[in-house]
This record gives sequence, structure tokens and C-alpha cells, in this order.
Amino acid sequence: SDPLRLGIAGLGTVGAGVVKIVREKAALLEARGGRPVVITAVSARNRDKDRGVPMDEYDWEDDPVALAGRDDVDVLIELMGGSDGPAKAATETALKSGKDVVTANKAMLAHNGQALAELAEAEGRVLRFEAAVAGGIPIVKTLTEGLAGNDIQRVMGVMNGTCNYILTRMESAGLTYEEAFAEADSLGFLEADPELDVGGIDAGHKLALLASIAYGTQVAFDAVELEGIGQVTIEDIRQAADMGYKIKLLGVSRMTGKGLEQSMSPCLVPASSPLGQLDGGTNMVVVEGDQVGQIVMRGAGAGEGPTASAVLGDVMDIVRGTRLTTFGAPASSLKEVTPARAATP
Ligand code: NDP
Ligand code: HSE
Repeated sequence: SDPLRLGIAGLGTVGAGVVKIVREKAALLEARGGRPVVITAVSARNRDKDRGVPMDEYDWEDDPVALAGRDDVDVLIELMGGSDGPAKAATETALKSGKDVVTANKAMLAHNGQALAELAEAEGRVLRFEAAVAGGIPIVKTLTEGLAGNDIQRVMGVMNGTCNYILTRMESAGLTYEEAFAEADSLGFLEADPELDVGGIDAGHKLALLASIAYGTQVAFDAVELEGIGQVTIEDIRQAADMGYKIKLLGVSRMTGKGLEQSMSPCLVPASSPLGQLDGGTNMVVVEGDQVGQIVMRGAGAGEGPTASAVLGDVMDIVRGTRLTTFGAPASSLKEVTPARAATP
């Protein structure tokens, strides 16, 4: 049968990881999807950069928007980043020219998710973003599909690998903030603008996306109460340890009678608790539903393999013919958020 043809815009940590999986697991993907999955064209800024995987057999486009509009691309894989600019332009072009889109771009969806979801539905296309939240943990799929019969009462967790890595390495290895930050960088965890990570903004984007699915509301990133890890000192970490606690950048969202509570901030958690034992770039997402009770998902929240794994999960949904909506319900049905001040978790 006809192959599903991918156009990949962005060949950095995640993009190169996706190319590797498509190359190395072609037979597995075809067996599971019933059709071959192939790459036809790619785009990035620098054509000459060594990406650790051969690129010369794919057509090259300097312009990601041109890539998105190509007739021989069925699905745009957007892995450039940025809330607007080329990522948004390429996504819109792809949707308008009859292509589905898979993205890892939480910044774009936190700021433009409602409009892009509406566009996807108006065009009869699919826009999926599993990789955008908690790296390799399939939390978007879990909320939109597996837990669709629940009223969700709370979503919480650690959703930024960089911050968790830095806090853990400062605590357990006595590294300075700068040393721990450099290690996170070498592992491919950081956003292009690392202030998004350490400022708690990236984790806030993720929390807002999950809240939209969980509560059937429009994405309301501006309503997240945000505080990053920039003010956390080694002394704070030591004092917390002396009392049997660790400091984690913890997000909590809850729908209350007064409105939606969303907070992302450094919190004390007992060192012996599952959250306290979450080391390195690991993420944890906890969901509470009225029927299922509590679900806990833990796994790699960033880096090449785990993030590419999530991208391929979405690609396989598309090859199997999913018609899932972006946020688990028609975009027109998503309610506007009334923000409520978050209580201490
Ligand atoms: P990188 O910075 O490693 O890669 C970005 C890629 O996009 C590069 O190949 C770059 O080209 C290309 N690019 C940037 N701007 C343009 C442009 N204007 N036109 C064409 N190409 C462009 O980012 P990551 O791979 O780390 O992240 C990609 C996306 O995935 C982001 O949205 C990020 O938030 C998200 N994400 C990342 C995770 C991670 O662990 N790294 C985890 C989950 C999500 P060039 O290489 O030539 O400079
Ligand atoms: N910069 C992000 C993090 C990548 O550190 O968690 C994964 O979304």
C-alpha cells in the first residue's frame, strides 16, 4: 500500500532522533501501521551541519513553509520550536494544504493552540502533540483516549527535565547550578531559550495543555501562576534535605467551583515520596479521575530518544487513520477559562 510520507521541519535533537527511528525501524513501523512510513523531505537552517544520520537521500528545503506545502508530503513533523514564526507558519500551511501535523512544540500550542486546533478541524485534518508534554510519557494519549470516560479532578507533576536535572544534580552530586545546567545542555534537554526551562515557563506551557484536555477548556497559559527555579539556592536545597524534603518544580491544576487553578512553582516534597525520588531528566505526571482514581506515569521527560518516541506514537496514530481532535474534544466546544487562585498543593 501507499507509504505515509513525512516532511520533517527541524533536524536538531528531536528531529534527528525521529529520522533515526524512521530509518532503523522501518519494518516494525510498517508491520504495526499496515503501511510504510517514509521521509520525503527535510528542512533546517544549516544544510551542511552533521546530524549524525544521513540526510542526502531526502529532498532539502531551506524554507519550512515550502516543505509544509509540498505535494509529496502527507504529514508535517514540526520540530523547530518557537511560539510563532516559521513553526506556526509551516503548521498553518500544512493544515490548509490537506496535511496532518505532528509537533513537539508546547510553546506554539500554549499560545496558539485554540486557533490551530480550530484550523485543523475546519480543514478536516489532525494536529497531534504527544511529544510536547513530558517527553516520552504518553500522557496526552492517556488523557484524550484512555481516561475519556472520567471527570478529571486533578493533574499534577514534574514536567521539565532540565529543572529536575539541575535540582537533582545540585542536591545529590553537589554540583553548582552552572555545572548542572551544562550537563543538562549536553543531554539535549534545553529549550533554544533556556530561560523557558529555568523560568518555569516551559513546564507552565505543558500544564496548560494538559489542563485543556483534562477539563475541556481552552488553553490558558496566561492564567498559570508561575515561578521558576532561579531563586532556589544550594542552601535551600541543603535545608530541605536536612528536614527530609527535596525541592521540585511542581505543577498542579484543578477545576474548582471558583474556576481553574493552575500553578507551577518550586515545592517541598518528602524525599522518600515518589516525587522526591524522581531523579535527573525524569518527569512524573499524576492524574486523578472520578472513576479510575489515581494514575501515575513516570519516565524520561526530555532528550532525543524519548521525545522522538512520542513523535512516532503520533505518526502511528495517523497511519492507522486517527481522527482524534487536538485537545480531546471539538475545539469549538472548549470553554473559556475562569482562573482561580491556586491553593498550596
Ligand atoms: P534544536 O534546537 O535541537 O533543533 C531545532 C531545529 O530546528 C534545528 O535543526 C534548526 O536548524 C531548526 N530550525 C530552527 N529554526 C528554523 C527555521 N527558521 N527554519 C528552518 N529550521 C529551523 O531543538 P530540539 O530538537 O531540542 O526541539 C525541537 C522542538 O521539540 C521544540 O519545540 C522543543 O520545545 C521540543 N521538544 C524538545 C525536547 C528535547 O528534549 N529537546 C523534548 C520535548 C519537546 P539547524 O539545526 O540548522 O540550526
Ligand atoms: N526543555 C524541556 C525539558 C524539553 O527540559 O523538559 C522537554 O519538553
